[in-house]
Amino acid sequence: MSDTTERYINNLLGQMTLEEKIGQLNQPAAGDRISPDVVQQGKVGSMIRAASALAGRDTSGSEDAEQANIIQLLAQESRLKIPLIFGRDVIHGCRTIFPIPLAQAAAFNLELVEIAASVAAREASACGIKWTFAPMLDIARDPRWGRVAEGNGEDPYLGSQMATSLVKGYQGEDMAQPDKIIACAKHYVGYGSAEGGRDYENGEISEPTLRDVYLPPFESAIRAGVGTVMSAFLDLNGMPATANRRLLTNVLRGEWGFDGFVVSDWASVSELINHGIAEDKAQASSNALHAGIDMDMCSDAYIETLAFAVQAGTVTIQEIDEAVRRILRIKQRAGLFDNPFTDVSRFTRDVLASDSRQIARQFARECMVLLKNSNDVLPLKGFHKVLFAGDFSQARGELYGTWSPDSHLEDCVPFEQAMKGTAPEEVDLWFEQDYDRALDYALEADVVVLMLGEHPGRSGENANLSDLSLPPGQASFVDLMVSLNKPVVMVLLAGRPLVITRQMQQVDAVLFAWHPGIEGASALGELLFGLSSPSGRLPITFPRATGQVPIYYNHKNSGRPLTAQGWFTSRYVDIPSSPLFPFGYGLTYTSFEYSNLQVGHSKHGNVITISADITNTGKRAGNELVQLYVRDLVGSVTRPVRQLKGFQRLVLQPGETQRVTFNLTEEMLAFCRSDGSWGVEPGGFHVWVAADSATGLRGEFSL
Ligand code: BGC
Repeated sequence: MSDTTERYINNLLGQMTLEEKIGQLNQPAAGDRISPDVVQQGKVGSMIRAASALAGRDTSGSEDAEQANIIQLLAQESRLKIPLIFGRDVIHGCRTIFPIPLAQAAAFNLELVEIAASVAAREASACGIKWTFAPMLDIARDPRWGRVAEGNGEDPYLGSQMATSLVKGYQGEDMAQPDKIIACAKHYVGYGSAEGGRDYENGEISEPTLRDVYLPPFESAIRAGVGTVMSAFLDLNGMPATANRRLLTNVLRGEWGFDGFVVSDWASVSELINHGIAEDKAQASSNALHAGIDMDMCSDAYIETLAFAVQAGTVTIQEIDEAVRRILRIKQRAGLFDNPFTDVSRFTRDVLASDSRQIARQFARECMVLLKNSNDVLPLKGFHKVLFAGDFSQARGELYGTWSPDSHLEDCVPFEQAMKGTAPEEVDLWFEQDYDRALDYALEADVVVLMLGEHPGRSGENANLSDLSLPPGQASFVDLMVSLNKPVVMVLLAGRPLVITRQMQQVDAVLFAWHPGIEGASALGELLFGLSSPSGRLPITFPRATGQVPIYYNHKNSGRPLTAQGWFTSRYVDIPSSPLFPFGYGLTYTSFEYSNLQVGHSKHGNVITISADITNTGKRAGNELVQLYVRDLVGSVTRPVRQLKGFQRLVLQPGETQRVTFNLTEEMLAFCRSDGSWGVEPGGFHVWVAADSATGLRGEFSL
């Protein structure tokens, strides 16, 4: 931050009354309870969403920007004219809805992630939103947790790469540009470890696991310049994240040098009372402020109690000043002091632009994961009558997924229309949601495509499950359809891994489509009818049974490892210990062979170079995601059995071979030791060039 900016902020701070300072720390949700004079008095620093804030009516599109402008005008009437920041959950697109975040991770395409986030920023900013509460960077090892849909899955390396791309996409080089928005790395930290997969629950994470697994995506976001961070709801290791000074101040600011501001999650300041570490709002506020929460989201705790706390001496004016300084810094960095208003004419140009839809189509195509394809039943060829049957065979809004508050149903091409637009003309397409009627059609059809899985409301915030199987009724429907002895393809819409162990045995092909967004149906049609090939890979392990969770690929060995033979090893007596599908898994319409692994060690800079040949052994061109994994064989603390350290995509024509090369630096092998120190330990390592986390060519090297 330049000296001029800091001087500007300090100068402003010098003119502020205590009341005005506390106002900057206050973030209410827009709604009728905010009266214009509160803004005019400088008692609001930020507001969640602009729509209907003062008018009390629902608005959308350009009207949002108009509302935002009206509120900014009120702020200009305040004594110091400090603009507000409008925040909103723009999670996977604003009006152009992209695949849900978990699906985005499945595309393993960082460039596309960044482009999609920049489209979301362009659209959101055209609607008067300058701050998104995204990306969610919580590592999730338990798919019962509904918010697994909103994150990047289980892997810290992928999660960190995604964090960088998302922050860059939202904020760009300069977040003051009118089409950029401030990102928010959330939920700091450990939120995905909620016990039993129940949202908001407590979590216990050891220091090495926190450092190795849960913190890295956040550190990457900070390195990428993220402007804000949101604290998590949970109680982590006995201290609610919203009151955790060590993590919010020592680690985030002290170790990583974060100079933006931290917002609490919704009412999580006053929830410190429920956690039992504060008696009342006053104590909750001072705990949170001491810990490093700068802005109070929707508790009204700061605005109601901080002035008294200063008088009573439980918080100092210096602490308040520091929080205000951080918020003003981000407002300044986001260009709000120069121009707090949104050009409403941008809406027609920037929202739902045709190139945005194309990006959404590409993303939807690339995120879907082919899990089974017996006898090459896909792509559908030579079938005259194709029946789409089951719950989502007329899907529209269901394609959007959780957290798509700005979506409009009519923007999404109806399923039927999308299929007709992608299927060959001579094919008869039938669509039937009702199970009984679908049976009648199925008797006449050549192939049945079952459209099943989760409604979007079944994943997302607090949409937790105790049973990951298909929703009620769907399994019997599959039983019935496969009993007809026709080819059956199962397409699943879902916000999380589902347990489909039985169905995997029954149907010929399974395509996991997640909630693929606004262009999801057309993308699905392209894949089913062979206009393109699937290329998504699982960013999270799929269990065989709900009782296997938490299950993740980068686990540690026990003294009696999962892979060893014998009775007294770590295992279940009723099912195999291995997952149904490992992290990184996914098929396509061709096949690949890996050969000629070489591992070289250049002492110069201590770089390990790993290379292998990848050959397309099938009959179609194809896109292969080549993954690099390592294992540190002996450490001073136990090490995971594998860790992802890189991935590259190759596009190969039939019969073509390409050599892939990865460079592994020493720094990439560092980890947290039991004394809290961070470093690499000499010794032997295994390395794999692999198509997923359970297979691959294995080599060795030593440091
Ligand atoms: C969620 C956050 C979200 C916030 C504002 C909370 O309930 O946990 O992720 O950003 O609401 O909508």
